Amino acid sequence: MTAAYPNLRLRRTRATGWSRALHRETVLTPADLLWPLFVTEGEDVEQPIATLPGVSRWSVDRIVARAKEAIDLGIPCVALFPNTQPDRRSDDGAEALNPDNLMCRAIRAIKDACGADIGVLTDVALDPYTAHGQDGLLDDAGYVTNDDTVAVLVDQAINQAEAGADIIAPSDMMDGRVRAIRMALEMGGHANVQIMSYAAKYASAFYGPFRDAVGSGGLLKGDKKSYQMDPANGDEALREVALDLAEGADSVMVKPGLPYLDIVRRVREQFGVPVFAYQVSGEYAMIEAAVAAGAGERDALVLETLTAFKRAGCTGVLTYHATHAARLLNG
Ligand code: PBG
Repeated sequence: MTAAYPNLRLRRTRATGWSRALHRETVLTPADLLWPLFVTEGEDVEQPIATLPGVSRWSVDRIVARAKEAIDLGIPCVALFPNTQPDRRSDDGAEALNPDNLMCRAIRAIKDACGADIGVLTDVALDPYTAHGQDGLLDDAGYVTNDDTVAVLVDQAINQAEAGADIIAPSDMMDGRVRAIRMALEMGGHANVQIMSYAAKYASAFYGPFRDAVGSGGLLKGDKKSYQMDPANGDEALREVALDLAEGADSVMVKPGLPYLDIVRRVREQFGVPVFAYQVSGEYAMIEAAVAAGAGERDALVLETLTAFKRAGCTGVLTYHATHAARLLNG
């Protein structure tokens, strides 16, 4: 039973700012944000990324300042991605297992300086380390193998955990990798290291600028459709999530973000578990392109899109706009 017009006027509660604040259903705070950061070799380096205007790669010595910036803004976690030197990329991605690789040095630098003041999330997949830009090992026919790849991903995850990573985030979409990584973490003395699984990761056209940022774009031939999900599928995403939860994921991720909010909502309703979304590089670039074209206003676009993630059911969002959004939210 509900009143009807004119006794019911939904505009009544929208008429003033105080009333809109009082009736707001969704609240966005800096604590909802995870900030992806790109790391590069060298000292005192900031390299702007052309396809991600406003985003740079940072050398390890300067990454700590970024982590401190996040802490000061109330952002609880950073996500690290390495731009591996070309001469350290190989068909088997062995650099991923080097305890002194760029990723591990960045993890250690942040953890040494910031300790438990911030979480460090690390991506597990081989694409920043392979000469072919695929996330796993190829067989003779060029197919990305599953089981052989999982064995390497386990070692990669342990390498990152040994360096101090707080959250291991497998983004490779191999079958069975969450269980394998969980078991290795338990046996390796890393019981409190979390797994945030990229459970529903789509073979998307929105990853282009990211591949420039980590330097795999020019190397990649073909696509990732034989392991990442078909954008047409939703029920399958729920199966992926169910499997990763059964295998021991602490939280799951949906990726990309805005085009897949229906998936976020379904995951939240069906499983009631922490679900994160990645507002990916192409989504960031679209907003920045709109701003540059005079077609939209950055602050409003950023806050509206991030609020939409929360309204859809997200626990948190990975976004390149994290510091900008946090500044706006902090006033
Ligand atoms: C690598 C990985 C990708 C992204 C995160 N981890 C790219 C890909 O799968 O090709 C994309 C993030 C973004 O576009 O911002 N496995």
